[in-house]
Amino acid sequence: MDKIILGIESSCDETSGSICQNGKVINNIIASQSIHEEYGGVVPELASREHQKNIIPTVDLALKQANISISELDAIACTQGPGLLGALLVGYTFAKSLSYALDIPLVNVHHMKAHILAHFIEDPKPAFPFLCLTVSGGHTQIVKVEDYNEMTVVGQTIDDAVGEAFDKGAKLLGLKYPGGPLIDQYAKKGDADRYTFAESRVKDFDFSFSGVKTSLLYFLRNELKSDPDFIRKNLEDICAGYQETLIQMLISKLTRASEYYGIDEIAMAGGVAANEGLRDRIQSEAGQRNWNIYIPKMEYCTDNAAMIAIAGYYQLAEGSTASMTDSPKPRMVF
Ligand code: KG4
Ligand code: ZN
Repeated sequence: MDKIILGIESSCDETSGSICQNGKVINNIIASQSIHEEYGGVVPELASREHQKNIIPTVDLALKQANISISELDAIACTQGPGLLGALLVGYTFAKSLSYALDIPLVNVHHMKAHILAHFIEDPKPAFPFLCLTVSGGHTQIVKVEDYNEMTVVGQTIDDAVGEAFDKGAKLLGLKYPGGPLIDQYAKKGDADRYTFAESRVKDFDFSFSGVKTSLLYFLRNELKSDPDFIRKNLEDICAGYQETLIQMLISKLTRASEYYGIDEIAMAGGVAANEGLRDRIQSEAGQRNWNIYIPKMEYCTDNAAMIAIAGYYQLAEGSTASMTDSPKPRMVF
């Protein structure tokens, strides 16, 4: 399909624009928001305001850098949901207005499906059917992917996302937001067997992470009573034990799903896919189980518009376009 698509993402704290030409991603411009660091999490109202500041310069840069004039665009693909309503509204309203002004189609993209389709930006690409473990600050899912637009969630978290478990755990340890990468760094130097945390048990391929965080909270409260300096002295071992518990929970459900569906094509997406402990573990499982593993390059794992543009490309190929009465859906169903 010979089309030039502009992708726009604004569901959380990244404003991003990308140009995709004939199914090839040309660029991926991302404006990240550091404003949330001091608050220990994304503040929705501040995120919306940052998106408002960033949306025009980001899209403008994506077009200029790709040497594409606005009149050459064939369609605009934009994240419709799930995400923060105010944040989504900025990108979606911009995309809708631009598509109306240019009289070109708008394509509604589901953010989580786009994380999965990020595997089709570059080679090597997974073969259908494959299982994708999508792990981010907002979601934890195992998805069975049968085709570009045919996917089913087979397991998901019933409470916190694994990224949230990393970030909330990090906050308890006094680390700044987002704490996932910091836990990862400290864990590398720590002993994962010194402290263990209770894993929550839930049915089938579902996950629950809020109990592990509570287990860390009670453990710290108890230790801090006898030694107020406990965290500083043992930070590396605590991070290693906590991270190991989270990884173990993810891997045990993923291996069960792989066995149950008889699928050895295993993909991983989302910001937590950056975690080195998780990457090492999935590689070692792959060796033992003959899995083929696919993890996109990091800029396509975290929130980005390239994945939105590529998802838009595959949806447009099937003739799926939005109506001018559509609006963002913070709780968009899969
Ligand atoms: O996909 P993403 O950029 O945004 C969402 O859609 O949520 O994921 C962000 C999440 C945050 O929770 C962050 O702490 C986590 O990914 N993260 C990590 C690492 N890098 C990012 N968690 C653990 N280890 C990492 N190295
Ligand atoms: Zn995301």
